[in-house]
Amino acid sequence: TKSTTISLRVNDETHSLTVDNRTTLLDALRERLDLTGTKKGCDQGQCGACTVLLDGRRANSCLQLAVAVEGREVTTIEGVADGERLHPVQQAFLDFDGYQCGYCTSGQICSAVAVIEEFAADWPSAVTADVRPEAGPPEVGDEEIRERMSGNLCRCGAYVSIVRAVTEAAE
Ligand code: FES
Repeated sequence: TKSTTISLRVNDETHSLTVDNRTTLLDALRERLDLTGTKKGCDQGQCGACTVLLDGRRANSCLQLAVAVEGREVTTIEGVADGERLHPVQQAFLDFDGYQCGYCTSGQICSAVAVIEEFAADWPSAVTADVRPEAGPPEVGDEEIRERMSGNLCRCGAYVSIVRAVTEAAE
């Protein structure tokens, strides 16, 4: 089968890789770059365990071909923290026990990072509160969070704690 040499931008580093054209981004991350924080659950786009950020928006890496993401910025769970400092979403998952077995956690966290960005984009008043102080931060309800996080399954059913962690991180 055909192989292609691509340059893959992951967590602010550029990697030159020769991959079979059918290699998914998920397999390239795990097997070629040793970034095993991204998990393989269903490998069919149904569980969200493989969620990464592609140019800041979430994507199931099992559904992306590595050759198709050349030129885009990939962020995995390994790149979410700011050096030694955990991302607020990571800290909130720790503080509020947003996991049980942990298998879905990196996908949940990557998804939550993007969800919080979506909130900011949908309700700009939340990030420009100084312009319209009377508007205050928007109420981010559990239903809204559950809906937006619904692509990330948790087989342990730790949803209550996950929603709590995302709520806390969003505030
Ligand atoms: Fe990609 Fe399940 S492994 S969505």
